[in-house]
Amino acid sequence: MKNTAIAKSPANIALIKYWGQRDKSLNIPNNDSISFNLSAAFTITQATADDTLKEDEITLAGRPVSDLFAKKVIKQLDRVRELAGVKTRFLIETENSFPTGAGIASSASGMSALSLAAASALKLKLSQQELSILARKGSGSASRSIPDGFVRWHQGDSDQSSYAESLYPADYWDLHNLVVVVAQAEKKVSSLAGHQLAETSPLYESRLKHIKDSLNSVVQALKNQDFTLLGVTAEAEALNMHAVMMTSQPSLIYWAPDTLRILQQVADLRNDGQECYFTIDAGANVHVLTEAKNAQKIMKFFESQDYVKQVIDNLPARGAHLVSENVKNVDRVI
Ligand code: DP6
Repeated sequence: MKNTAIAKSPANIALIKYWGQRDKSLNIPNNDSISFNLSAAFTITQATADDTLKEDEITLAGRPVSDLFAKKVIKQLDRVRELAGVKTRFLIETENSFPTGAGIASSASGMSALSLAAASALKLKLSQQELSILARKGSGSASRSIPDGFVRWHQGDSDQSSYAESLYPADYWDLHNLVVVVAQAEKKVSSLAGHQLAETSPLYESRLKHIKDSLNSVVQALKNQDFTLLGVTAEAEALNMHAVMMTSQPSLIYWAPDTLRILQQVADLRNDGQECYFTIDAGANVHVLTEAKNAQKIMKFFESQDYVKQVIDNLPARGAHLVSENVKNVDRVI
């Protein structure tokens, strides 16, 4: 048997973050999180299930991958094989729309694209919920890249109850997420290692108590398309997560000096009447949220700063889906 499937899947930005796990082996989080998918940051993965292969073969942008990368991919392929009850090996060819190592999270888009492509190549018929559960086991945030648009990941309390679903489709609200890139190096402490430290922070317990209110505020803000409530809540939430990171033992400081510069500039822009807000993941780059009417001006502002390496403009996007284009023609489907 030789069968190929190609999947395209976006990265996502969390407005309410996932930080800390109740089950390490299954990636079950301690709280619900809410995100939207990013239109300009995605992965395309071609999976060929081939019974003649002796082992899995993996390339990233046409090149061989590191042992660590290969290990994560093979582990996820093992999960897909187990679901299908087969031992078939895969040829995996994967590409990102953004430069690899640009400091932009690729595991959410990568693991979700891989899960859909490999399951489809084995002709597994999985529901969206089952796919989200499968992607979650590869990388927690990948569960949120399966459904469309604005997404909530229900923490659940078991493998079957921890999955993400769409709250609104991608075209519900034309928010922009400008990724202001200041650091291109790989982060020193992975999110996976960081999750394990969350509970060592004396602030973590109060974070979990408070997070239900933040989740409700984001739900309300999305429902009413209230950009101010959304932005204020997302900023406070990002700072709350980073306060936990910074007060873990050992302390995790993902920010660079330029990170703080952007936070100050976001506040200045806002005081000048150009409403925008920031959120930050486990890295030094800043995601700036704006409405469509201000997006171009704010993007130009950050592009003109000499310390900024790149600004990537994203709109909300569809979740993981199959495409017909070959992985090598990635440009044609951007
Ligand atoms: C800070 O364990 O999903 O981005 O697998 O490294 O992408 P990776 O990370 P994951 O943790 C994500 C943590 C976060 C917050 C979030 O996206 O919710």
